[in-house]
Amino acid sequence: MTATIFVLNGPNLNLLGLREPEVYGSDTLNDIEDRVRARGKTLGFEIDFRQTNVEGQLVDWVQEARTKAKGLIINPAAYTHTSVALHDAIKAVGVPAIEVHLSNTYAREDFRHHSYVSPVAHGIVVGFGAYGYELALEGLARIVSKN
Ligand code: DQA
Repeated sequence: MTATIFVLNGPNLNLLGLREPEVYGSDTLNDIEDRVRARGKTLGFEIDFRQTNVEGQLVDWVQEARTKAKGLIINPAAYTHTSVALHDAIKAVGVPAIEVHLSNTYAREDFRHHSYVSPVAHGIVVGFGAYGYELALEGLARIVSKN
């Protein structure tokens, strides 16, 4: 059976392409999904790609990953900087998680410099724009294939 990787996206990422393109680029979330899916295929993974604006929904999906996914890639968007619940969920499920941000959050406002997710992430990809999702998948593939 093909292993599944969850790719979870938080609030306002449904607006990619329209939203501050000078910061986040001109690719839409659908463009990113297509590329991650294609890369997943060559690496031998099924990609389950989702977006929500709701914090509790992200928590539910992280919990779902415990039994359904070999690993997860998450761009928690603004919840990165606020969500103890996401921190706890990722820690609880024990599925390797890669945190992705399109922008270099450390080169932006101070409130973006702290992440509740980073301490429980296996790895972090920041500042590579949409390509960061593919980099995250490459990295996760190495981790998952060792498990
Ligand atoms: C983001 C960075 C966050 O600070 C911001 O709230 C987002 C997007 C990124 O991908 O660069 O919504 O996660």
